[in-house]
Amino acid sequence: MLHFPGGFRWGSTTAAHQIEGNNVNTDWWAREHASGTTIEEPSGDACDSYHRYREDMQVLADVGLGMYRFSLEWARIEPEKGFVSRAELDHYRRMVDTARELGIEPMVTLHHFTIPRWFESDGGWLAPDAVDRFARFTEAALPVLDGVEWVCTINEPNMVAMFAGTDPAAVDSGAGAHTTMQAFGQPAPNPRVADTLLAAHRAARDVLGAAGPFRSGWTVATQDFQPEPGCEEIARAYAYPRDAWYLEAARGDDWVGVQAYTRTKVGADGPLPVPDDAETTLTGWEVYPGALEDGVRLAHAMAPGVPVFVTENGIATADDARRIEYVRGALTGLHAAIADGIRVEGYLYWSLLDNYEWGSYAPTFGLVAVDRETFVRAVKPSASWLGEVARANAVESSP
Ligand code: BGC
Repeated sequence: MLHFPGGFRWGSTTAAHQIEGNNVNTDWWAREHASGTTIEEPSGDACDSYHRYREDMQVLADVGLGMYRFSLEWARIEPEKGFVSRAELDHYRRMVDTARELGIEPMVTLHHFTIPRWFESDGGWLAPDAVDRFARFTEAALPVLDGVEWVCTINEPNMVAMFAGTDPAAVDSGAGAHTTMQAFGQPAPNPRVADTLLAAHRAARDVLGAAGPFRSGWTVATQDFQPEPGCEEIARAYAYPRDAWYLEAARGDDWVGVQAYTRTKVGADGPLPVPDDAETTLTGWEVYPGALEDGVRLAHAMAPGVPVFVTENGIATADDARRIEYVRGALTGLHAAIADGIRVEGYLYWSLLDNYEWGSYAPTFGLVAVDRETFVRAVKPSASWLGEVARANAVESSP
């Protein structure tokens, strides 16, 4: 058995647009319904978690998971520039209160990929006042955050910098956006967007810092770029603007989030596609549990002394037994990193629910299945298994 440090946090994570349903005011909704869109299917009612969040948190409490990371939908809270909806703030406040009532520690993400339509029309992260708008939104969200300890400002800024500022048609080419959420075939990050996101992150941290004793950070998609023999320098240069830069930028933050799923090999000509003989997930990614340990070690190397939080790790599979084995493998590697002295605050599985995977409901990451017509939830064995791991604060290692 591998034992985790006392106080280690266990839980699961979601994002508003992927579970709430009817998120009509986001840029994504607009894109899903634009004429000629190449997005496979729209988010629609999603998991109707906007109404069923208590049921979802109850599952966490029942299986023994003590933390829930969820995001606020900026487009609901500020549906028009400068108009802040008190009713929507109350909604998210009720989510925080419900979590507490059920004994669950909330981690609140302020921004998880989607932006309000008005912000998109102003230029999104390339708008001249983007940083100021995000700082104001953070300020507006303070009533929701009162008493919350853990706040994530921006989810995967590195992915945002790859997809924002690029032509959505280019992003969505092929079988849907989710297939591009892997390193191979990704657009290059837009450095202007990256700089703006970092400034927005810091501005949000300033707002939070002035308001209360929050522990805030941002969460980075660590992509485990692995060099082919002799390609170490090429791989390092390729990886730096894609993940390492964002980890380095977390120096001085209260924590840094690691979100790891798979690896990408890098050869002399850049990233390589997944080899034909590799086992792949429903997103087409290589099944590679070691990505988590590698991501945590990279975060520690780039931002020494900043505590790491595993804010996402998971696998899209229809075979729940495979999910358990993937997580067991990932936790075995995570334990080794912790044993080497890296401070890790907790582990959150992506995702609590089978949800909208940015273009399609087909890749099922969830610990809980959701009937697409009735919204009835079915708790999978992996949820109970992870709950047992949490209760024992220990996992049986992978062979
Ligand atoms: C994102 C999630 C996404 C998951 C699986 C991360 O890129 O934060 O929104 O669903 O990975 O692709």
